[in-house]
This record gives sequence, C-alpha cells and structure tokens, in this order.
Amino acid sequence: MTSLTVLPSGKTYDVAAGQSLMAALQSVGEPIQSKCGGGAKCEACHVMVTEGRKTLSKIQRAENEKLDGMVGIASASRLACQAILGEEAVTVQLL
Ligand code: FES
Repeated sequence: MTSLTVLPSGKTYDVAAGQSLMAALQSVGEPIQSKCGGGAKCEACHVMVTEGRKTLSKIQRAENEKLDGMVGIASASRLACQAILGEEAVTVQLL
C-alpha cells in the first residue's frame, strides 16, 4: 500500500502500489478523465505530480512522445494511465 493525496480535493487515500495512477484515482472516485482507455493516446489523463515523482515508474516511450506534443506540460506532468505507483507517497494535482 501507499498513500495518494489528490488536489484540489486535498483528500489522502491508501491505495495499492503497483497499479497505475489512473486506476488508483478511479478506485477512490476522483474525477480522472480517459478517452483512450489508458493507451497514452488522448492526453485526457494529464496530471501534475507535485510530490513523489521519483517513486513512480519511469516515463516510457509512448508517454514521452505524447507529452512532447502536448501544450501546457511541465516537469511534473505525467499521464496517469502510464505512471505506476511505487511504495512511497504521491501527491497529484488534477487538471
Ligand atoms: S487515458 Fe488516454 S492518455 Fe491516459
């Protein structure tokens, strides 16, 4: 298990490590968008990871290519469908 804090709600949840950030957000009822079903193709699941970036899985090619083509990304940007939770606490800002 790990800890997931979601902004702007400010709620903190205990969620299973090893699942995608999107799956964790959906499991706790936070409003994360998805138009491609988690395939790194739609940008709808873009979030900012404000704490715990290093505990997430590394950005792989498909996510990197998608982020490269997006407007409004920052170093904290991740596609929630591609980022796998590690064992340490994470804070994400929903957009
Ligand atoms: S759900 Fe489409 S890119 Fe993540």
